[in-house]
Amino acid sequence: MNVSLTTEMLPAGEAATLAAARALAAGGLVAFPTETVYGLGVDATHAKAIALLYQAKGRPAFNPLISHVSDLAAAKRIGRFDDTALKLAQAFWPGPLTLVLPKTGDCAVADLATAGLDTIAIRIPSHPVARAILKSFGKPVVAPSANLSGHVSPTTAAHVRSDLDGRIDLIVDGGPVEVGVESTIVGCFDNPMLLRPGGLPREDIERVLGHGLRQAPPDAESDSGQPLAPGMLASHYAPRTRVRLNATSIVAGEALLAFGPPVADADKAAAVMNLSAQGDLTEAAANLFGYLRALDARAARTIAVMPIPNHGLGEAINDRLRRAAVGRE
Ligand code: TXA
Ligand code: MG
Repeated sequence: MNVSLTTEMLPAGEAATLAAARALAAGGLVAFPTETVYGLGVDATHAKAIALLYQAKGRPAFNPLISHVSDLAAAKRIGRFDDTALKLAQAFWPGPLTLVLPKTGDCAVADLATAGLDTIAIRIPSHPVARAILKSFGKPVVAPSANLSGHVSPTTAAHVRSDLDGRIDLIVDGGPVEVGVESTIVGCFDNPMLLRPGGLPREDIERVLGHGLRQAPPDAESDSGQPLAPGMLASHYAPRTRVRLNATSIVAGEALLAFGPPVADADKAAAVMNLSAQGDLTEAAANLFGYLRALDARAARTIAVMPIPNHGLGEAINDRLRRAAVGRE
């Protein structure tokens, strides 16, 4: 746990904006106000920083995160907009609306931020402090609400400090936020679907669309659970290749996803990738989704995964690996 950081708190303004951009560029964790709630931001392209973010929040699992950008051009570099998505973006951005879209082919956002999904959640916040930081930093920023997992979302800098003091690098204090509940999330699938009610009323969205929003199942969104019910478009990532957990040796033809010193007969494997040769769980989390994808592409008969200790980020890694293992059975 990185509970030993010195958390700086700065009043919003030019100096704070520059300090925030600098900290983000260095892979740091920065809390800042958006119009909905305070967000805890890191560089969306920096897998290791994202792993530290999950750790700082004490999240039990790698929920996919929202990528915050400063303008539509930046949004289009990471998400594929159809006519409906464009219409909603033009009507409500900047503002408390998040769109879930297919990722672009060259999306720079780390796989860990999208929990390995082919879709990405994007939003352009309207809060001037958030906008200034995003503009100054110049890259997408993933930002869940800046609270410990299981606590309510923070609407003041003091809330953030009481949850995350010593766990993050910087808090930018922009006063109390306006909206106080998180953004409304709309999945721009074949038929747009309300994934999470939030700061933008459903009626406003339906007026612009000219028709109703499909309703997601009741358990579609929760802070601790899955983003969407299994079987739906945004169901968790699972490789096409069968996954075998807790492997202590290799069967010929298998690909190996190692952790720490590889198994003795690793040279029998069709391909080997090591989540962390040093056995570092933060590094392993940052590599997890990318390496699973890379091994999946090798079309081996099975991906054999070595045991991962079940503490710290290991719990979330094992949660995702278990889901990957049952995904195609
Ligand atoms: O107002 C907000 O949205 C705040 C501020 C900081 O912007 N952020 C926020 O983030 O509420 P968070 O991480 O607490 O909630 C993001 C939700 C997740 O619960 C997840 O279910 C959903 O967005 N989500 C993200 N990517 C998704 C995807 N590809 N498919 C479906 N749902 C997704
Ligand atoms: Mg939250």
